[in-house]
Amino acid sequence: MEFLNAHILSSQQFDRKDVEKIIKVARELEPVAQKKLTSDLLRGKLLASLFYEPSTRTRLSFEAAMLRLGGKVASVVGMENSSIKKGETLYDTARIVSFYSDVVAIRYSESGSTEAFSEGATVPVINAGDGANEHPTQALTDIFTIAKERKTVDGMTIAMVGDLKYGRTVHSLARLLSRYSVKLIFVSPPQLAMPQEIKHHLQEKGVFVEETENLEDAIRRSDVLYMTRIQRERFSDEATYKRFHGVYVLTKGLVERCNPHVLLLHPLPRCGEIHPDVDALDGAGYFRQAGNGVSVRMALLSLVLGKM
Ligand code: NCD
Repeated sequence: MEFLNAHILSSQQFDRKDVEKIIKVARELEPVAQKKLTSDLLRGKLLASLFYEPSTRTRLSFEAAMLRLGGKVASVVGMENSSIKKGETLYDTARIVSFYSDVVAIRYSESGSTEAFSEGATVPVINAGDGANEHPTQALTDIFTIAKERKTVDGMTIAMVGDLKYGRTVHSLARLLSRYSVKLIFVSPPQLAMPQEIKHHLQEKGVFVEETENLEDAIRRSDVLYMTRIQRERFSDEATYKRFHGVYVLTKGLVERCNPHVLLLHPLPRCGEIHPDVDALDGAGYFRQAGNGVSVRMALLSLVLGKM
């Protein structure tokens, strides 16, 4: 794909060459992300950071990426503080924000909302999470992390665990992994299974997919275990959420017993599904993964702004 001025809305828009390009640029910018070098690559550029849903990592890593590359940031945080609260459409907001900024990162609670926003935008728009739908920059961060930690993505067996129905990170990641030669194991209660549409997509691409409720068995057979939290905010009632909360919990003992070499990832925040004693394991990659988000977002900002 042509990156210059492109909207980044779904992980489906990337072919394998695109992902490799992003990984290569992220690697080049990594010393800046890791505070070893300074850079003025994006001097004079302004990121509008519009986060209408809660965020810590995604917003701060986008903003850190822009600022550390010498750019500037203007933010809206939360619905309360925006004109959308007054009834303004995403389309109108996009028209306006395009006058003020050079690139937009947006998170909003409805599926498809970032696409609707991009229709009014004349600057590149990056989806930072649209409801339960997609989170493409997280998926790129995840693949970057696997490639960095294990030197390859091809040949890996990757288990995704937890709320696969509402988890936008696993939706984007599964789609992006269909560009690689991998085996996927989906671990969830049947009520929180991966959406059919994504399973069809994987089938079409010839990805081997298995579904199970058995976490232990999946740990034994995986190279990478991708945990997710049960998405409280996506359930209409608290009782249903409570039924699933705590259904899968990783402990140090469990990992050591089943597969001490497995790479453990999680988009975070964790809400009880990874016991803090797991953090001591070499394979506990989730904090490093969150750190990698800065390099990957630096790469995306630089590419859409035509600076890499
Ligand atoms: C995820 C998200 O917002 O979708 N967090 C993140 O961006 N790293 C996962 C989550 O909230 O559970």
